[in-house]
Amino acid sequence: MKSMSREIGIDLGTSYTRISLRGRGLVLSEPTVVAINKITGEILAVGNQAKEMLGRTPDSIVAVRPLKDGIIADFEATRMLIQNLVYRVVPKSLFYKPKVVITIPSSITDVEERAVEGVGYKAGAKAVYLMEEVMAAAIGAGLQIERPEGSMIVDIGGGTSEMAVMSLGGIVTENSVKVAGDKLDKDIVEYIRTRFNVLIGETEAEEIKKQIGSASSAMTEERISVKGRNLSNGLPETVTVTTVDINEAMKDSLEIILKAIKTTLEKTPPELSSDVMSKGIVLCGGGALLKNIDRYINEQTGIPVFIAESPTECVARGVASALENIEVLKKSTKGRIV
Ligand SMILES: Nc1ncnc2c1ncn2[C@@H]1O[C@H](COP(=O)(O)OP(=O)(O)OP(=O)(O)O)[C@@H](O)[C@H]1O
Ligand SMILES: [Mg+2]
Repeated sequence: MKSMSREIGIDLGTSYTRISLRGRGLVLSEPTVVAINKITGEILAVGNQAKEMLGRTPDSIVAVRPLKDGIIADFEATRMLIQNLVYRVVPKSLFYKPKVVITIPSSITDVEERAVEGVGYKAGAKAVYLMEEVMAAAIGAGLQIERPEGSMIVDIGGGTSEMAVMSLGGIVTENSVKVAGDKLDKDIVEYIRTRFNVLIGETEAEEIKKQIGSASSAMTEERISVKGRNLSNGLPETVTVTTVDINEAMKDSLEIILKAIKTTLEKTPPELSSDVMSKGIVLCGGGALLKNIDRYINEQTGIPVFIAESPTECVARGVASALENIEVLKKSTKGRIV
């Protein structure tokens, strides 16, 4: 019998891993978290279930986020994660040597790149193609990248913020900073620790960011109560923080992202940057959901800013369309079949 071959796209993100299948598009999206039994090495949970365990595990269990700043920090856990998620959408019997496209951040080193390839092969792939996340994001956001004019995508994820100006199907200028959603969460933890002497978890910080966080403090002020631990007496304590507090906490990091956008435009040939100035910047990634991020970037650059439709799914959509269209795949991946 002829063996079954499949094409699978993996947006391996610091916060979320999203799987697409050729002909079906995005089929699964789960947090990039793995819970492992430390003693036996056995995998206990992956994705949502594992995320709930973060910071709440007994000694024998460890819940890890195997990617840090967009790159693999724990190879074995990443392999387990990919295998587990892929088996959920493609029955094991059909997972016969698929071709796999995996996204990579543009700042990746050769060694890190080989780790991504390696993880794909270890998980059972016949061929591993690497695709720059920012290219996938641009395609998935619907930018007309093939045209002879400049368009700009900014992908603010969990671990990295990546931005690129594209023209004629290629990346003309790009930039990447390891400041994105995770750093904003850390900023909030740090701010509450310094200001109130109370320690909260990063998961709580993320919740605060999503609920009342805003990139522009001039907007309506909201407040939220959060439980933490008083660092002097070790007892639980509830503090109330406002949008202004959270904006203050995130200010420096937001400025780093803004500066990276400005630098990208400065390095871009004037014909193309003037296209961007008139057509605008498109935002994607989970960071595009931060309230008023579009307004903030617009006010600071004078350039129109648009948020892509379902911004967290852009990269996966771009990967899915690359699976459909071998022309795009060849151009935008490094095309290596090792
Ligand atoms: N409503 C929201 N407001 C603010 N931030 C949000 C919101 N929703 C999600 N985020 C943040 O978006 C980030 C995740 O974005 P995304 O899923 O694009 O990351 P990723 O692709 O996994 O990471 P990366 O591409 O950097 O490796 C998280 O930091 C999350 O807290
Ligand atoms: Mg991403």
